Amino acid sequence: MRITNSEFIISAVKPEQYPVDNRVEFAFVGRSNVGKSSLINTITNRKKLVKVSGTPGKTRLVNFFLINDEFYFVDLPGYGYAKVSKTEQAKWGKMMEMYLLNREPLKKIVLLVDGRHKPTEDDIMMYEWVKHYGGNVLVIATKEDKLKRNEIKKSEKRIRETLGMPDDEKLIFFSSLKKVGIDALLNELEKEL
Ligand code: GTP
Ligand code: MG
Repeated sequence: MRITNSEFIISAVKPEQYPVDNRVEFAFVGRSNVGKSSLINTITNRKKLVKVSGTPGKTRLVNFFLINDEFYFVDLPGYGYAKVSKTEQAKWGKMMEMYLLNREPLKKIVLLVDGRHKPTEDDIMMYEWVKHYGGNVLVIATKEDKLKRNEIKKSEKRIRETLGMPDDEKLIFFSSLKKVGIDALLNELEKEL
């Protein structure tokens, strides 16, 4: 699959604002700063489709992007950002649940974890939560460019063990900087179309 067209549709605060055309959706979740927005820019080959920032917590709403006029990418706010207040965290949880639960067009949840580190408690919780609700999850390890070749194998083992991933489940290493993993990811998504 090649992405030839991508268009921002809406930053939704509440479910009534979600698209109603029943096109397939792919959601991107993960820790704040893990590289969700950058990944979307990279695979759509757009520099500024999604706002990226060194400051965690840049993405606050549920953002829909229409891709190839065929399906949506949904960029979700990151979790695990310590400076966010309890009230904000509760709001985040509610917004995520409202979207992730009962979202019929949602075909795959792409969970991004930082390839340089062991998945956090929040990552484990998110992975288990998706599995628990019968969701279809694809794990991506980001910032591959920060790893030496021999570190990638170690990182893969650590991520698989920590999340408790079955051996036959795909884990894709990705780098927005070096444009690594784009085809592997798009191939996985294409299977759902
Ligand atoms: P929130 O919106 O806060 O949840 O963050 P996010 O997951 O959308 O992360 P974002 O894409 O905004 O990137 C966060 C930081 O990581 C930025 O400084 C990016 O430049 C950097 N970054 C993203 N992808 C990569 C990558 O592949 N390699 C490297 N080295 N840095 C990256
Ligand atoms: Mg973001």
